[in-house]
Amino acid sequence: MMNSSGVAVEARGLTVQRGSRTVLRGLDFTVEPGRITGLLGPSGCGKSTLMRAVVGTQAKVTGTLQVLGSPAGHPSLRPRVGYVTQAPSVYTDLTVRQNLDYFAAVLRPGRAHRDTRRDAVTRALTEVDLTSHEDALAGNLSGGQRTRVSLAVALLGTPDLLVLDEPTVGLDPVLRRDLWQLFHTLAAERSTTLLISSHVMDEAERCHRLLLMREGEILADDTPDALRTAAGTDTVEEAFLHLVDAAATRKENAR
Ligand SMILES: Nc1ncnc2c1ncn2[C@@H]1O[C@H](COP(=O)(O)OP(=O)(O)OP(=O)(O)O)[C@@H](O)[C@H]1O
Ligand SMILES: [Mg+2]
Repeated sequence: MMNSSGVAVEARGLTVQRGSRTVLRGLDFTVEPGRITGLLGPSGCGKSTLMRAVVGTQAKVTGTLQVLGSPAGHPSLRPRVGYVTQAPSVYTDLTVRQNLDYFAAVLRPGRAHRDTRRDAVTRALTEVDLTSHEDALAGNLSGGQRTRVSLAVALLGTPDLLVLDEPTVGLDPVLRRDLWQLFHTLAAERSTTLLISSHVMDEAERCHRLLLMREGEILADDTPDALRTAAGTDTVEEAFLHLVDAAATRKENAR
């Protein structure tokens, strides 16, 4: 169920205070359903804070934030939203499959037959390409493999919205490519909405739409093509720099 305007996420005047700082400043943006939206910007600009607001774990959020037609954090969204944090948490003393079995039982207590849960675990393991490591202790995995275990946990419930905080950091180019293929498959075949953060601009080109952030503000909300065309640049990275300069000039002129 989407809201009346057919968007997956809609923010109006979204403001977040962390400590004494205003970390997000009155943001307006939308996330289209069934598409991959990249959330890009330098370290500290507020990407993780924005994602935490969307999944409903961030305190001191003001403004309006609708997610799949309900206010962010509404209990009905729990099974519909998958979230992988920037520092993925897995139980290091359990194997990969045991981790997934555990989360499957927590996510679907009593709702699904054991065999159904087992099938969901097997499917999620295949999707993140960890079948060959299913009996390895999570504590012995590389950072990228652990990220993929967390991603598999998020995929267990076949969520409508997947919020992934820098899921490809530290992965080799082959794995990065494979994960992006998985993201595109999820969007195309399951109509999953994906919101994916990165501070690597070359990943921008793989997204359908982009939210470019800087210092708690959204500089642009558009397709990669439109951003390049509007800025007259060859890459999204150059377009981003162009927007940063334009915003600095505007601020200077406003003084
Ligand atoms: N508990 C806190 N109290 C005060 N400020 C905080 C707190 N947590 C985060 N911040 C500040 O909020 C801002 C946004 O942080 P956030 O983690 O959202 O950035 P980010 O874009 O995800 O960065 P990165 O790319 O490094 O993950 C940063 O300036 C950070 O210092
Ligand atoms: Mg972050």
